[in-house]
Amino acid sequence: MIVEKNSSEIKRENGFIVFEGVNGCGKSTARKTAARLLAEMNISAVETFEPGSGTLGGILRPLILGEKAAWRSPIAELLLFGADRAGHVTEVIKPALEENHIVLCDRYYYSTVAFQGYGRGVDLSLIKTVNDSAVAGVVPDLVLLFDLDPLIGLKRTLRRAPSESGDDSFEKEDLAFHNRIRSGYLELARTALERFVIIDASRELQVVEDAVIKVLEHYLR
Ligand code: TYD
Repeated sequence: MIVEKNSSEIKRENGFIVFEGVNGCGKSTARKTAARLLAEMNISAVETFEPGSGTLGGILRPLILGEKAAWRSPIAELLLFGADRAGHVTEVIKPALEENHIVLCDRYYYSTVAFQGYGRGVDLSLIKTVNDSAVAGVVPDLVLLFDLDPLIGLKRTLRRAPSESGDDSFEKEDLAFHNRIRSGYLELARTALERFVIIDASRELQVVEDAVIKVLEHYLR
């Protein structure tokens, strides 16, 4: 597993960078830090996120993140995230990469493996089929995994302003669900060593921010 200190082992090939982790892990703040760093380096970047980017995403996000509804099931969730992602790749990510922008994406298909797979218990091979079809070969070059005890993450989300947090029904799931997600992410990192950097997100914000900058400076060199 590649941890922060040897992150220089990951070589830059392309510019698709994904931020992943449990709820409240600080990845959205890290994405903003990354965007600021790239702007200072005069590197053009596109910031994006899942779920909810692009035309289809805008329609799906309130449905996906809304309160429990009669239609809700793990499979329906999987397919909705898959549809959101397929639209996102086609409309936003692929065109941006083709125009040589760096893409900074808050959550991608690892979230589906962690949340719907490890969290909800959906069959991992089914998830792989849906994910592979949705991304059509557009895979990240670097994944920053913000590892954190979910209890700390959930406490952080409770402190957020309601406008920041939105209506995310996943944050209301029990701790066991979030613990499975954390383990799922760590397992994923073990199976994709070549592109994961694990960042210890339990530290002070400034320390995490410095770690992100260090990793990216190595990567973009
Ligand atoms: P969001 O408001 O974007 O919050 P966060 O800052 O945690 O990313 O909510 C996205 C929620 O959707 C989050 O709880 C994780 C969940 N999710 C999945 O369950 N599966 C997925 O494939 C994705 C992309 C997100």
